[in-house]
Amino acid sequence: MKKVGLVGWRGMVGSVLMQRMREENDFATIEPVFFTTSQVGLASPDIGKKTETLKDASSIEDLAKMDIIITCQGGDYTNSVYPALRASGWNGYWIDAASSLRMKDDSIIVLDPVNKDVIQQGLADGVKTYVGGNCTVSLMLLALGGLFEADLIEWVSPHTYQAASGAGARNMRELISQMGAIESSVADELADPASAILEIDKKVAEFIRSDALPTEQFGAPLAGSLIPWIDVPMPSGQSKEEWKAQVEANKILGTSDNQTPIDGLCVRIGAMRCHSQAITMKLKKDVSVAEIEKILASHNEWVKVIPNEREATVSELSPAKVTGTLSIPVGRIRKLAMGPEYISAFTVGDQLLWGAAEPLRRMLNILQD
Ligand code: HSE
Repeated sequence: MKKVGLVGWRGMVGSVLMQRMREENDFATIEPVFFTTSQVGLASPDIGKKTETLKDASSIEDLAKMDIIITCQGGDYTNSVYPALRASGWNGYWIDAASSLRMKDDSIIVLDPVNKDVIQQGLADGVKTYVGGNCTVSLMLLALGGLFEADLIEWVSPHTYQAASGAGARNMRELISQMGAIESSVADELADPASAILEIDKKVAEFIRSDALPTEQFGAPLAGSLIPWIDVPMPSGQSKEEWKAQVEANKILGTSDNQTPIDGLCVRIGAMRCHSQAITMKLKKDVSVAEIEKILASHNEWVKVIPNEREATVSELSPAKVTGTLSIPVGRIRKLAMGPEYISAFTVGDQLLWGAAEPLRRMLNILQD
């Protein structure tokens, strides 16, 4: 059995990874060794089999004993440990949730339902570093995988509705606190059916803009509002989240030398952990909606085409429905007024599952094949 070092398993993405590994019995086929940045020597988490006590996540010597390391510890950890570990001569497989190594020439972005061939080629070529993709990119490619595979896409413009979880656990808490604080600020008026809605609205607006709303994490109101900027600015005028769409998607697809243009605006909204995307795309030719739906639905076992009907859309195509599941619904598929090659779609996916943890555990399993 391969010795697999797990780092950052206690954080939010790491906890989802642990949950999925338990559910899928992944620990049965590996020898897991848990690392910690703060609790060396304490007991490892219970995974139903005997494990060593927690090892020091900064010990190159201990890390170098692993065949595979899987980390959800974050970019700072990767930046400090990975170069030293490789410099020590370690030649094991490094599987990483952080973005630090994603665009390196000697790494592959893993999303095997979409790029199993790229991963297999990488393994054959001796690539040892496999990195999970940006969540919006992975979720978009799972939804539109069929059209990419059929080489039908000329360009894509995804406009995102990104959940609080993408910004971190503390941000999720802050979103709920904002919601609660807003409700509390008008609780008396809400309880009175005779109160005027415009008075309530005025009070809410004043409260949202006031210092009383907790905004330490987001730096702005999210509940009752939105934030149309995610991550740092790029020279192009894009936010970094927007910049990632094209470079990462094309790297995943193995088309970095002949890129499909992918660009749109990324917006933070008040959902908990599902990212949604409204997609406008231009196809290379006129394909019927029925054919598009067939191509999308047959690409992978998680994508689910939702007919472009009101009831099905409202009940199936929302963060509330999808959260905590691996389902990737895609709907609102129709021809746009701009011409027969212009298509709309709307898709939703859990950014902690397919957007973060799931591709990593699947890569671990590919290494067992
Ligand atoms: N950067 C994403 C977000 C999450 O802020 O929603 C990580 O892929």
